[in-house]
Amino acid sequence: EKGGYDYFMLKEIAEQPKAVADTLLGRIDPAGSLTLDEVRIPDSVLREIDKIVVIACGTAFHAGMIAKLAIEHWTRIPCETELASEFRYRDPILDARTLVIAISQSGETMDTLMALRHAREQGAKVLAVCNTNGSTIPRESDAVLYTHAGPEVAVASTKAFLTQLIACYLVALYLAQVRGSKWGDEVRDVVRELSAVADRVERVLETMEPVRELARSLADKNTVLFLGRHVGYPVALEGALKLKELAYMHAEGFAAGELKHGPIALIEKDLPVVVVVPSPRGRSVLHDKIVSNIQEIRARGARTIVIAEEGDEAVVPYADHLIRIPATPTLLQPLVSTVPLQVFACELATARGNEVDQPRNLAKSVTVE
Ligand code: F6R
Repeated sequence: EKGGYDYFMLKEIAEQPKAVADTLLGRIDPAGSLTLDEVRIPDSVLREIDKIVVIACGTAFHAGMIAKLAIEHWTRIPCETELASEFRYRDPILDARTLVIAISQSGETMDTLMALRHAREQGAKVLAVCNTNGSTIPRESDAVLYTHAGPEVAVASTKAFLTQLIACYLVALYLAQVRGSKWGDEVRDVVRELSAVADRVERVLETMEPVRELARSLADKNTVLFLGRHVGYPVALEGALKLKELAYMHAEGFAAGELKHGPIALIEKDLPVVVVVPSPRGRSVLHDKIVSNIQEIRARGARTIVIAEEGDEAVVPYADHLIRIPATPTLLQPLVSTVPLQVFACELATARGNEVDQPRNLAKSVTVE
């Protein structure tokens, strides 16, 4: 069943290129336009949407944070992303022109389900992004865009996350197509780039041995910090979540710009800090600011573990460990930058003797509020 792998998680990490390709399949035509037939919300309704709210929990919430950046950039529709468990109980402002996107691998998460019921009662349209056919969340939604990751058995979500990102990019790009985007050329380029992503994920997977080695060398550490900015911030949060749930280590993700507002006080000699570096070709200001952050923490003794694009030479002098990822458009970078963090957490869990597929205290689908 595990296809020769020791754990389902390893198998599912390895399946990511296929999961990504399967989720794209049939949704982009050769001319580069998107067809999301399953989204039965008419284009006329999508043209009238004036606000988008993304709700989800855990890893799916991190996908939602990235979705917000993509949606707002490409469509200019105001979008917020909120934890389903917080959203439901704060009397959110919703109406018939609000599109709610509920992201859930299992389709059974109670917090997400309660949030979407609340949204529909207020008249909002709900689109589910889900990996499980016929589960409760898509059944109760107005429309569904299925991710085609295949069954995910390991409790820690990996391939579902990458496909949730793909689905969110497709929704954002589809909205841009239906409504027009001031970034028309960029939208066309990104649609093209999406078809190259599965190969890039494959390339990342082929270069993971040094990451595994690094993880094993950190097995007796107590704390690992993660820093990122823009799309790298949710990736940092995701890296920290994986490490908590699998390695039972204290792991925290921060927005790199917040460092000086508090977290930098945590930096001490030999503390491992993972930094997700944005593409130097995209928002170069962000890139340069992160490079200064790496310098700052290294000057205070941190052991820097830097995830940066191939060809990004600016980070080299400050990286104690350098993990390379293929050059990818800024908003799509999480598809490649998350993968080393999954491998890192899985290997650390193994090195610490933990049960990888079935971490303590956790269940695959959380059907209580
Ligand atoms: C983390 C993880 C959880 C789930 C969360 C939502 O690896 O698996 O954080 O992402 O419980 O689950 P779904 O997506 O099924 O709603």
